[in-house]
Amino acid sequence: MESTLAYAWYSDPEILRREEERILRPAWQYAGHTGQLGDGAGFFATRSGRTPVVVTRDGAGVIRAFVNVCRHRGSVIAEGESARETLQCPYHAWTYGLDGRLRAAPRSDEEPGFPRDELGLVPVAVDTWGPFVFVNAGTDPEPLSDTLGSLPAQVAELLDVDALVHHSRWEAEVAANWKIVCENFLECYHCQVAHPAFSDVVDVSPDAYLLSTEGNLSTQRGVLRTATPEDELPRAQFHFLWPNLGINIFGGKPNISIGPIVPLAPDRTYRFLDYFFGAGVDADWIAELLAFDDQVGREDRKLVEDVHRGVASGAVERGVLMGRSEQLIGHFQQLTAAALA
Ligand code: FES
Ligand SMILES: [Fe+2]
Repeated sequence: MESTLAYAWYSDPEILRREEERILRPAWQYAGHTGQLGDGAGFFATRSGRTPVVVTRDGAGVIRAFVNVCRHRGSVIAEGESARETLQCPYHAWTYGLDGRLRAAPRSDEEPGFPRDELGLVPVAVDTWGPFVFVNAGTDPEPLSDTLGSLPAQVAELLDVDALVHHSRWEAEVAANWKIVCENFLECYHCQVAHPAFSDVVDVSPDAYLLSTEGNLSTQRGVLRTATPEDELPRAQFHFLWPNLGINIFGGKPNISIGPIVPLAPDRTYRFLDYFFGAGVDADWIAELLAFDDQVGREDRKLVEDVHRGVASGAVERGVLMGRSEQLIGHFQQLTAAALA
C-alpha cells in the first residue's frame, strides 16, 4: 500500500519555505478575472502565494502585472480594484503608471541624480485564459498555455469560458496545512460518508466517479444521479492543476468556480473561489448552487481541520493511501515530493 507523505511535512516551517521556493513561486497562480479591470484602464490587487501582486490594464488594453511593493521603502501599494490610471503608494505618495514606471516621487528634485528610471515596479509574468487572469512571480516561467495543458479543452467539453459572467467571490481561511486542503479536494472517497447532499446529486460510487491524471492535471468526473433533459451540463467535473489550483463545474446550468489554495503558515491556508455563471442562468438556480457548495465547503473545513490536528500532533509518522480511490492524492504527493527532493 502506498504511504502518505511524512506527517512532519504538514507542520514543518522549513518544508513550507522550500515548498514556496520550489513549488509555489515558480507556478502560474490564478490571480483574478478580467472583469476586475473594468472597461478601460485600471488595476486590481492580488497575490501569488505570499507575494503581493498588482495586475494592471492600460488605456490601450495591455495587461501587465507587478510585485505590489513600493520601490521606496517596501509598502504594499494597491488595494482592492480601481479604474484609476496611476498607482499611488499610501506611505509617501510615490506614484507609478500602469506600465510600472515611477512617474513622481515627492521631493525627488532635491535629490541630485535621483534614478527615477531604475525605480519602476518589479514585473511579474501575466497571461489569461478566457476571463481568468494568471500571474507567475518566478523567473523565466514556461508559457501559461503549456502549464494549462489539456485543461481548457476539458473544460470546453462542458462550457464556453468566454461566455461566462463573474458572479461573486468566496473567501476563507482554514486551520490546516495547504496540502491537506489539496488532498481533500483530490478524493471523493469521503463523499459518501461526509457529504450526504453531494452524494445524493452525484453518483460517487467508484465505477461511476472517474479519476484521471495528465501531466500536472487531475480530473474527477461524476455523473448526476438526477439528470433531467433541462440540464445543459450532464455531469460534474472537478479539476486540480498541481500545485494548488482548484476548479469546480457542477452539473445543470453553465457554472464554474476557480481559485488557488494558498499557504499562509504551516497550519493556515487561505482560499478564494471566483464563481462564474452563464449569462442566462437564473438567480434561484445560482442561489441554490451557492448554498449547496457552501454546505459542502463547511463539511470539508471540519474534515481538513481534524486531519491537521491529527497529523500535526506528531504522534503518528504517516498514513496510507487507498490505491484506487485516492490515486489522485498519490499523484499530488509524487509531484510534490519530486519537486522538494
Ligand atoms: S514606501 Fe512607498 S512611498 Fe515610501
Ligand atoms: Fe469534500
